[in-house]
Amino acid sequence: MFENSHFPRAKKFWHMGKFHDWAESNVHAMSHALHYGTSVFEGIRAYQTADGPAIFRLPDHIERFFYSASLLRMNIPYTKQEIIEAIKQAVKENQLDSAYIRPLLYYSYGNLGLVPKHSPVELIIAAWEWGAYLGDRAEKGIHAYLLPWRRIHHTQFDMKAKLGGLYILSTIYGVLAREKGYDEAIFLNLEGNVAEGPGENILIVKDGVVKTNDMNESVLEGITRTSILKIAEDMGIPTSIGPITKHDFFTADEAFFSGTAVEIAPITQVLDDSEQDKSPKEYTIGSGTAGEITTKIIRVFKNIVAGENNSYKTWLTYVND
Ligand SMILES: Cc1ncc(COP(=O)(O)O)c(C=O)c1O
Repeated sequence: MFENSHFPRAKKFWHMGKFHDWAESNVHAMSHALHYGTSVFEGIRAYQTADGPAIFRLPDHIERFFYSASLLRMNIPYTKQEIIEAIKQAVKENQLDSAYIRPLLYYSYGNLGLVPKHSPVELIIAAWEWGAYLGDRAEKGIHAYLLPWRRIHHTQFDMKAKLGGLYILSTIYGVLAREKGYDEAIFLNLEGNVAEGPGENILIVKDGVVKTNDMNESVLEGITRTSILKIAEDMGIPTSIGPITKHDFFTADEAFFSGTAVEIAPITQVLDDSEQDKSPKEYTIGSGTAGEITTKIIRVFKNIVAGENNSYKTWLTYVND
């Protein structure tokens, strides 16, 4: 039996077509994924709207889920539509108004050789209420730690995939940032440019232009990032895509993280510890508070996910059809 202290309002999880009590254990300790990280996951949010919970860009998340699974050569035991329905069910079953949703495909129990040829692929879907990922700071401004360790390079692995094992570095350096007294870590890439956070993209604003990087800079091109670029363009705010140098970052007027978990969170302070032979240096981004353009984009984003902006209705999948 598992106690539930960190998954508010989670009562049941979906596993291979059935709902189970949250406290129930049903994964064998010799499951392949537990040993080698041979799993694929998505992080998805549902938001409260006047017509019940609506899931943000669900088909896009499902596309990425299947793409990630293809890299692990997984035979997924369900269709995309079946998974979409099961996700809606998971929100309903737990009677959630808003939710963080975690579908997980994993090589389960069978064999323990590195090649999981006798380990079937199983699917779990969990949903619970998860507020601001980085706490209160997400609104006021994140203090970030620019790591001395570099992001895996895009020539080493396909950055589009969300594979369990790849996230070990995100965990290690996310912990390190917090040990140093910061809210979150930031990776440079091997070229020495700003890449991304452990689970977040980075966007900056300079002279009124919203800028971010892409896959060529060794980042996962997040669904939130892509949405923000579209929102900015629709608001008449120019956008650009390309490398973000450290200088660009430290001298930006505004900077923010984006991601499903973090949503949109201003970055206001950065400790640059990326040069191993130099002492760390602290930088304040812009005015040191949430910037004007960031704040405007947050407002429109909140409006969209709350189902209050008809122009973006196609981004929402309502749980109650
Ligand atoms: C490494 C990494 N970068 C960026 C993101 C943001 O992606 P999204 O906006 O699709 O959640 C995530 C989260 O999924 C991530 O894990």
